[in-house]
Formats: sequence, structure tokens, C-alpha cells
Amino acid sequence: MNLEFITLNNGLKMPMLGLGTYPLNRLKLLKSIWIAQNNGYISIDTSRSYGNEKWIGRSLKLINLFNNQKLFITTKLGNSDQRKGNVRKALKESMDRLGVNYVDLYLMHWPNPDTYIASWKQMEVLYKEGLVGAIGVCNFHKHHLEKLLKEAEIVPAINQIELHPLLTQEPLRDYCKSKGIQIESYSPVARMDPKLIENPLLVNLSKKYNKTVPQIILRWNIENKIVTIPKSGTKNRIIENIDIFDFKLTSDEVEQINNLNEDYRVRYNPDTVDYYKV
Ligand SMILES: NC(=O)c1ccc[n+]([C@@H]2O[C@H](COP(=O)([O-])OP(=O)(O)OC[C@H]3O[C@@H](n4cnc5c(N)ncnc54)[C@H](OP(=O)(O)O)[C@@H]3O)[C@@H](O)[C@H]2O)c1
Repeated sequence: MNLEFITLNNGLKMPMLGLGTYPLNRLKLLKSIWIAQNNGYISIDTSRSYGNEKWIGRSLKLINLFNNQKLFITTKLGNSDQRKGNVRKALKESMDRLGVNYVDLYLMHWPNPDTYIASWKQMEVLYKEGLVGAIGVCNFHKHHLEKLLKEAEIVPAINQIELHPLLTQEPLRDYCKSKGIQIESYSPVARMDPKLIENPLLVNLSKKYNKTVPQIILRWNIENKIVTIPKSGTKNRIIENIDIFDFKLTSDEVEQINNLNEDYRVRYNPDTVDYYKV
């Protein structure tokens, strides 16, 4: 198993695969992170709004103590904190819960329409002060990014979006590539939606490579240079999801999976979501 890395637009190296943690919490979260780290994961994705930063902090302490391993931590600026307008305070509170004084990647969780430009400007200051290794966004459509880039001094390092073979997001991927913004996929296995998992092409590839359908999908992310963060709280699946660095899909197979797109979302569309609920 050789975990792959990508270099972000500011030179920071990020693992291509990490552990998603929503809605894991407490001992189940601690156990999942322990299993993950002992099986090759070094990147963990959380958010202020997942309510689990405190238990991630406890997991980090445990791993530091017993394995002397530093992990790549992503957390996010929540919407309620965006509305309060004090991004520095929000980051400080996340860091206190995580028990760290540096976060590798700080993302804006949603393009909260009234506040996202102002929030970004504050995130830029925190990045320049060295409190975070990189800053980025989540759930930004092209029009959000266009507006942001007109005002921004720093180009987001990451856009974390819902992405899987039924929602391939190719126009947004192309746009982000042209601006140097790395795509990161959330809900990469579409929360195991049968419409995705029972797809005949994916099932056939799974038989061909003797890998599971989730592994085929995660490998497709890697072939497309998409960072991905599958969530699992189950030991064998946590291990299975990172066991994807020992095979390759052909470019033709990657293209066939790209063509499964139906613009099918399992999570919220940033243009229609209720920003008070997420
Ligand atoms: N920025 C955002 O707005 C945003 C939004 C959503 C999610 N995220 C992040 O992205 C992460 C992943 O997305 P997600 O949790 O929505 O969806 P996901 O990773 O596509 O799916 C998670 C679900 O799939 C199951 N699963 C995972 N791997 C499996 C495997 N190999 N075989 C069978 N079942 C498997 C898990 O079950 P078990 O746990 O029972 O194993 C869990 O129920 C989140 O945890 C979070 O960190 C970010």
C-alpha cells in the first residue's frame, strides 16, 4: 500500500485519500481514527458543524502518544460562525477543541451568500499568519468561485464538493483545474446509494480487478487526480477503502465511468440549500 499525495497550489502536500468523519463521534470516532491511522491513513476530514472536533482532538493525542504520528487535519468554518463574522474566533475555537495550534487545511463549509467574500478575506489573513497550511472552500459552484476570485488575493487551494460517478462535475473540475484549485470529493460512494453501487459497469470492473465497487470508485477518483475522503466507521471498510493503491484502471475505463454522470445528487445543492440548516 503506497498512499499517493498531491501538491496544492501553495506547495503543501496533501494525501490523496483521507477519512471522512461525519457523523462519527465519541468512542466510535476514536476507534475509527485509531484503526484508520494503523492502516495507512494520515488525513482526517472534519468540520466545526460535525460536533466531533473534541473527540478528534482526543484521537490525535492518543495517536501522538502511542504512534508518534502527526496527521493532516482538515476542518471547516461553519455557517453560524460565518454569520457571526469572526473567523479568527471560529478557528481558535476549532483549534482548542482539536488540541492543536495549527490546522493543515481550513475550508469554508458553504458559500453562505451574504458572507462568503468577507469570510474569505479573514481566512486569507489567518493563512498569512501561518495558523493554517492552506485555505480552501467547499460546495462552490463556478459562479461562486468567479465572484470570489474577483475579490480574492489568495486562490483557494481546494474546492471540496459532492462528487461520484453519478455526479462527475466535469465542467466544475475543468474550471477549477484552469485556476489551480484542487478538487476534493465528498460523499465519494454516494453514501452507498444502490443506484450507484449496483451499476453494471462498476460491478463488472469490480469482478475484473477483484476489488469492491467502492474501491473501483475510489480508484477512479485517484486516476482523475481527485482527493477523496470516504467515511466509514466499520473496521473492514476503513481498511478496504485505502486498499486502492495497488491497481490501476485503464484510461478507457476511467472514461467509461466519467460517462455514467447523471448530475444525480445525494446531498444538498449549494444553490438551493437552506443555509440556516447546514
Ligand atoms: N463539505 C461538505 O459539505 C461535506 C458534505 C458531506 C460530507 N463531507 C465529508 O465527506 C465525508 C464522506 O462523505 P459521506 O459520509 O457523506 O459519504 P460516503 O463517504 O460516500 O458514504 C459513507 C457511507 O458509506 C458507507 N461505506 C463507506 N465505505 C464503504 C465500503 N467500502 N463498503 C460499504 N459501505 C461503505 C459508510 O458506512 P459505515 O460507516 O457503516 O461503514 C457510510 O454509511 C464525510 O464524512 C465528511 O467528512 C463534507
